[in-house]
Amino acid sequence: MDVKTIMVVGAGQMGSGIAQVCAVAGYDVLLYDISEAQLDKGIANIEKLLARQVEKGKMAAADKDAALSRLSRSTDLHDATDADLVIEAVVENMDVKTKLFAELDKIARPETILASNTSSLPITEIAAATKRPDKVIGMHFMNPVPVMKLVEIIRGLATADEVYETIEAVTRTLGKVPVEVNDFPGFISNRVLMPMINEAIYALYEGVATKEAIDEVMKLGMNHPMGPLTLADFIGLDTCLYIMETLHEGFGDDKYRPCPLLRKYVKAGWLGRKTGRGFYTYE
Ligand code: CAA
Repeated sequence: MDVKTIMVVGAGQMGSGIAQVCAVAGYDVLLYDISEAQLDKGIANIEKLLARQVEKGKMAAADKDAALSRLSRSTDLHDATDADLVIEAVVENMDVKTKLFAELDKIARPETILASNTSSLPITEIAAATKRPDKVIGMHFMNPVPVMKLVEIIRGLATADEVYETIEAVTRTLGKVPVEVNDFPGFISNRVLMPMINEAIYALYEGVATKEAIDEVMKLGMNHPMGPLTLADFIGLDTCLYIMETLHEGFGDDKYRPCPLLRKYVKAGWLGRKTGRGFYTYE
């Protein structure tokens, strides 16, 4: 299938990043959100990041203008009729996602592919909310989307081969590297990453070392670009907790139990960078 127009649902950090890379790659992009204010924020962020690329000489001003001219905003989900591909990037909540996919299924043309950027929820269950489970697929981008090369592509139980092939080709057009993964909780990225972060939080909770020491060990000893506690703040502690709960429930194995300190921080509203406080404090 030839994809020309992509609708991105959700103009948060991930959604606006996805819209940015799609517009830069030459797709017509509709960025949708229920909130005008969130759309303003998402689009302002895209403009800022592209302007910075121009300042650094990494992008021509004309290419920035062309990318921005391909980007439109929408607060009407019915605009999905124009899309060949819809990429959902809303909150990590199964109820919200299944309701949205059921609605998109009614609105979008029958051939339109519905992709989810979920970080750990089962694609098969999201697909079951639609009458087109063969056209539902996981397209998991990493944060920050414009920088990170990986897109984890998750096949649901019923995802058609040609849908997988289309999404793989779109991913390469975005300048990203697709990696195929089957539909199990946390896929590969978060099945491996989150237990490491959770273990770092346990080490802090048990007083094995300070937060700075834990981060230094992983940065200098393992060459990770960020220590696990800094990375947890970057991802959002609510998201980290939600993913650990998804792993715990999905596998029924206590090795995935979330650290009580993580729960405590989330209950306190210390969600990391986005709230100004997590394991560290931010301006
Ligand atoms: N948005 C867009 N671009 C950004 C950015 C952001 N938030 N932060 C940094 N960048 C860009 C910078 O503009 C810079 O671009 P140029 O090379 O074109 O100049 C480049 O990234 C490097 O930035 P810096 O030199 O300022 O900083 P750095 O070298 O420390 O890199 C980082 C920053 C890329 C975020 C790096 O620290 C890193 O890779 N951290 C780990 C990120 C990671 O693990 N992400 C995955 C999280 S898990 C996830 O997303 C999945 C999930 O489901 C939870």
